[in-house]
Amino acid sequence: MYSDKVMDHFDHPRNAGILEDADAVGTVGNAKCGDIMRIYLNIEDDIIEDVSFKTFGCGAAVATSSMATELIKGKSVEEALTITNSAVMEALDGLPPNKVHCSLLAEEAINAAIYDYAEKHDKTYPGLHEPVEDIHEEDDDDE
Ligand code: FES
Repeated sequence: MYSDKVMDHFDHPRNAGILEDADAVGTVGNAKCGDIMRIYLNIEDDIIEDVSFKTFGCGAAVATSSMATELIKGKSVEEALTITNSAVMEALDGLPPNKVHCSLLAEEAINAAIYDYAEKHDKTYPGLHEPVEDIHEEDDDDE
């Protein structure tokens, strides 16, 4: 069901835990499964110097958080905002269809954390949007 990469990130999550003194924090969730993902960022000169996550959720949510933090670490804020859930899934060699929303949580948690940073520092970035409360795929309600 899961790729080796997903299992690896689930068994050995990268950048897990709370980032003390984080510059920004973003939290998103999915009302249906009840899973919650939180991303912490330290940003200096618009570069993501450090990132961590805390996820209360399924194995795929842990793996996508872990991979997402790997993908944005050291990147500029603008670059981090271009990382989509598809890119996270691709980096994990795919996810089962019913787990796609888990990767959406990762994309949206990054956005939410950057939004927090932008608000605190009165900045704007292309692609940044107001955090969405309930993260799900378009057709999630039809399942
Ligand atoms: Fe909801 Fe994975 S099942 S985040």
